[in-house]
Amino acid sequence: MKKNFLLVLLVASVVSNAQDNLYKEKYRPQFHFSAQKNWINDPNGLVFYKGQYHLFYQHNPFDNIWGHMTWGHAASKDLIHWKHLPIAIPEENGIMIFSGTCVADINNTSGFGKKGQTPLVAVYTGHIENVNQSQHIAYSLDDGITWTKYDKNPVLDLHKKDFRDPKIFWYAPKKYWVMALMFPIEHFVQFYSSKNLKEWNHLSDFGPAGDTSGVWECPDLTQVPIAGMPGKKKWLLQTSQNTSMQYFVGEFDGEKFINENPTDKIYRPDYGPDYYAAITYGQLPASHVPIAIGWLNNWNYANEIPTTPWKGAMSIPRSLSLKKINSEWILIQKPVEKIKTLRQLVYSTKGRIIKKSIDLPLSLQQFEMEVVIQANYNAIAGVRLAVGNDHAFEIGYDTHKKVLYVDRSKTANQSFNKNFSTLNRFEIPYSFAGNKIRLRIFFDNSIAEVFVNDGERVFTAQIFPGEKETGIEVFSDTIYSTLVSCLVYKIKSAW
Ligand code: FRU
Repeated sequence: MKKNFLLVLLVASVVSNAQDNLYKEKYRPQFHFSAQKNWINDPNGLVFYKGQYHLFYQHNPFDNIWGHMTWGHAASKDLIHWKHLPIAIPEENGIMIFSGTCVADINNTSGFGKKGQTPLVAVYTGHIENVNQSQHIAYSLDDGITWTKYDKNPVLDLHKKDFRDPKIFWYAPKKYWVMALMFPIEHFVQFYSSKNLKEWNHLSDFGPAGDTSGVWECPDLTQVPIAGMPGKKKWLLQTSQNTSMQYFVGEFDGEKFINENPTDKIYRPDYGPDYYAAITYGQLPASHVPIAIGWLNNWNYANEIPTTPWKGAMSIPRSLSLKKINSEWILIQKPVEKIKTLRQLVYSTKGRIIKKSIDLPLSLQQFEMEVVIQANYNAIAGVRLAVGNDHAFEIGYDTHKKVLYVDRSKTANQSFNKNFSTLNRFEIPYSFAGNKIRLRIFFDNSIAEVFVNDGERVFTAQIFPGEKETGIEVFSDTIYSTLVSCLVYKIKSAW
C-alpha cells in the first residue's frame, strides 16, 4: 500500500516536472507560437471572432513527425500570448484533415446555426493518402471548441489525387463566399463561389505563373491597404510552392484575379528558407491591418529538425501593406505592434566606427535588434548573431555587388539532415539608398526573422546554436563602416 502511494507520488512529480519544463527546452521559441508537444505545420482557419484571434494548425497529436493530420487549436487576444485549446477536427476513417479556412457564418448562410448561435464553419481538404483530395466542411456551435463534420461531405470532389487547401472569404459586392483552391501539380489556383458553403460553382483560374519549380499549395487572396493612400487597396494573392512562397498583386472583381506586377519577376514574402504556407486572418474589424502567419520550417528537412518534444513554430504575426516602388507592387511586412509589449531595452549605442567588427557587450539568444549601418563603398557589412566557438549566423549587405544575404553555413548543429547544410546561404539583389543598411532582427533561440528597410524584404531562417553561442557583432569587412545606431531589446517569454 505504502509502496503504491510512493509510486503515485513519484509519477505525479515526474509529470509535474515535465510540465514545469515545458517551453524551457533547448531551442524552444519564447515569443513564437509552438504546440506544447508534437508536430505542427501550416496555420489553418485564421479567423477573428468575438475578440479572439483563432489559430488552427496542421498537427499530429500522436508523434513528433508529420502524420495523422488533425486541426490543433489555440486562441489569443493580442496575437502574442496564446491559449491552447482542445484538438478541433481529428483525422477519422482514414481521412486526414488537411489545410483550410474557418469562417464565422454570421448570416447563417449554411443553415448550421441554431437558436441564434453563429456557426463557425471550417472548410478543409479531406485527404485519403495516395487516393483522393476533396473539400469538406465541419461546423462549431460553441465558438470553435467542438466540431461536427457535415454528414454530406465532401462538398467538392473532382476525383483528383492533388486538389487542396481551400481559402474562403465573403465577397460582399456579390453576396457570396469565394474559395481559392490549389491544383498543385498543374500550378494554378481555381476560384469558386457559393451562397451556402455547401454548393460551389467554378469561377476562374489563375496560373501557372511566376515560380512553378515546386508543387503549388495554400493559396491566400486578401485585400491589402496601400501605404500612405488612406482607403486605397489592392488584392494580394500568395502561394506556397514547395519550399518557398511567392506573391502577386492586382485586382479581383469577384470572379477572377488579374496580376499587375511584371510577370518576368518572382516576388517573395520571405527570401529565407523557413517561411511557408502563410495565410491571412479573415473577418478582422474594418480598421484592422491585414495579418499573415506562416509556418517556420522547410519540407526539405522539417521532420528532422533537432527539437523535442515539439517540432515546428509559427512566425511572429505580420501586418501587411503595399507600396509601389519603381512601378512594382511590393509587399511591406512588419511584426505586429504588440510584440513591443514584450521588449525591454538593454543596450544602445550610436555613431561608432566599425573597424572589422564591434562585439556588443551582450550575451543573448532571445532578443530584438534595430540597427542602422552607413556602409562604406566596397564594404560588406552587417550583423552576426549566435556568435561563439567559431560559429555565427550572418546577415550582410555587399555594397559592391548590391546583394543582401543571410548565411547560416557557419552555425552549429547542421548534421541532422543533409539538405539543411546545403541550404545555407540566401541572397537577393537589393539596393539600400546611399548604402544605409537598416535591419530589424528578431532572434528567438532557434529562429531568426530579419525585416529589412521597414519590411520591404524579409528573411526567416532556423539555426540551432550551442548554449554558449550568445555573442552579437556588428561587422564591416574590406573597409570600415559607421554604426549609425543600434538598439537591442531583450524579449520576455510569452509562455
Ligand atoms: C503545405 C501542405 C498542404 C497540405 C498540408 C498537409 O505545407 O502540404 O498542401 O494541406 O501541408 O499537412
